[in-house]
Amino acid sequence: MPLETRPIKNGFAHELLGLRLWEPLDDSMTDKLRELWARHPVLVVRRQALSERELADFSALFGPLERVVRTEWASPAVPEVGLISNLKDGQAQPIGGLGDGELQWHSDQSYMMHPATGAALYALELPPKGGTTSWLDLAAAYAGLPDRLKQLVEGRNGVFSYVKRLAGYQVVDRVISSEAKRKTPPVLHPLVHTHPVTGINVLYLDSTTTIRIAGMDDASGCALLDEIYSFATRPEFVYRHEWQVGDIVMWDNGATMHRREPFDPTARRLMKRTTIFLSRERHIVPGGCLASEEAMA
Ligand code: OGA
Ligand code: MN
Repeated sequence: MPLETRPIKNGFAHELLGLRLWEPLDDSMTDKLRELWARHPVLVVRRQALSERELADFSALFGPLERVVRTEWASPAVPEVGLISNLKDGQAQPIGGLGDGELQWHSDQSYMMHPATGAALYALELPPKGGTTSWLDLAAAYAGLPDRLKQLVEGRNGVFSYVKRLAGYQVVDRVISSEAKRKTPPVLHPLVHTHPVTGINVLYLDSTTTIRIAGMDDASGCALLDEIYSFATRPEFVYRHEWQVGDIVMWDNGATMHRREPFDPTARRLMKRTTIFLSRERHIVPGGCLASEEAMA
């Protein structure tokens, strides 16, 4: 089957047409999709009707699936699938995570020493307005960065902390298990990586977890980060996805940030997601170390 694709935003994102992901994909199609995802960090597939098992099996074509530290967001039926929703169960408890609030520019798992950088989000119920998700092209942002800023970030590591991420969440999502806390000490990652397939330099940023730059005092590190964020988040680097039920968006957190606009808390939104350990041969996978080992980094 030929794969028809439609580039979006200079090829940063690609829409894949004609796929029926509820049917098994042959090896050559799987290879084509792996190759595409390596080169285009955001892939969009519309009009899919998938069970949780089918979503997990499709996602696992790209790497082992991660069970995220927020085990309370896992689907009871297929725990590799996470529920991202504002819906509540019969006991008025959230069925999943991330509620209805705004999510600022972030990169999933940046607070992990070995982040699972692939994600797929599948839309099942959507609010009439709001809840739109946008992705930011951190390769294009790096390419456009003034030389002065390139030089200042080159060779630098950021310190990424889940405690900072939690502070930006709505109240119910701020409470975490002692197990989750144990698994998320602050970590260091380089702020610039070279992509293994394209050979180009890419920023690695997360405005919701980065607390400072290693080796810089807090004030100058944060001032530098703010300057980079305000440059990198220009509209020319952003793809804003207008969700339709049945959409799957897959993205590479090693080369993007994403954000979500808030929506009416009384509206219903249900998304299912998977988290994937993408391979270092095809994708940027930040290798970190504990921030407490900073002196040795
Ligand atoms: C996520 C996320 C955004 C959304 O699942 O990591 O940021 O639109 N979701 O729900
Ligand atoms: Mn996210």
